Amino acid sequence: MVNSSLKLNKTSFGSAENAGNVITEKEALELLNDWVKNEKLIVHMKQVAHLMKEFAASESLSLEEQHKWYLAGLLHDADWDQWPEQHCKKIILELESRKIDPEIIRAIASHGPRYFGVEPETKMDKMLYAFDELSGLIHAYSLMRPTGYEGMQVKGVKKRLKDKTFAAQVSREDINDAAERANVSIEDLVQFVIIHQKDAKI
Ligand SMILES: [Fe+2]
Repeated sequence: MVNSSLKLNKTSFGSAENAGNVITEKEALELLNDWVKNEKLIVHMKQVAHLMKEFAASESLSLEEQHKWYLAGLLHDADWDQWPEQHCKKIILELESRKIDPEIIRAIASHGPRYFGVEPETKMDKMLYAFDELSGLIHAYSLMRPTGYEGMQVKGVKKRLKDKTFAAQVSREDINDAAERANVSIEDLVQFVIIHQKDAKI
């Protein structure tokens, strides 16, 4: 799906003087509407955004911080649909040119260390990486369950994680790596997604 050409070859993103600069949710959604034609990808980004915001809230971070986490989730794959060969590079350049808070850009840049060559460092970086693939797998699981998220259990998700033919494009390796880096158990991560993902505005 992706190759080494996606390597970003840098470790610093944006500018420290832009700390605290954000765009509104409306502006971010406008960017997505401009850039992304694939509805499923938009749903994916909205779900990850919601998980990010909820996680920041669960850590008692301020509303400003929660919005930053939300934006990182909402925009992390914005360039994947139209510019897969420039995935990550394009959205980083866009956010740098809009003088967006470097922490948001960094989280996006490190959401796939194997591909982009940027190590997740902050909690925001690590949680974006951790939620990304797992969110998709649990969404797929909800769609095949007659009751969706209702009654979904951690053990059911773990069974799907073990079954490599289920949502086969979802990298189990990345999920395990991300959970380890974030120092969160797979069980806790899965439970968090089960509880919160159904409330994402999609
Ligand atoms: Fe993603």
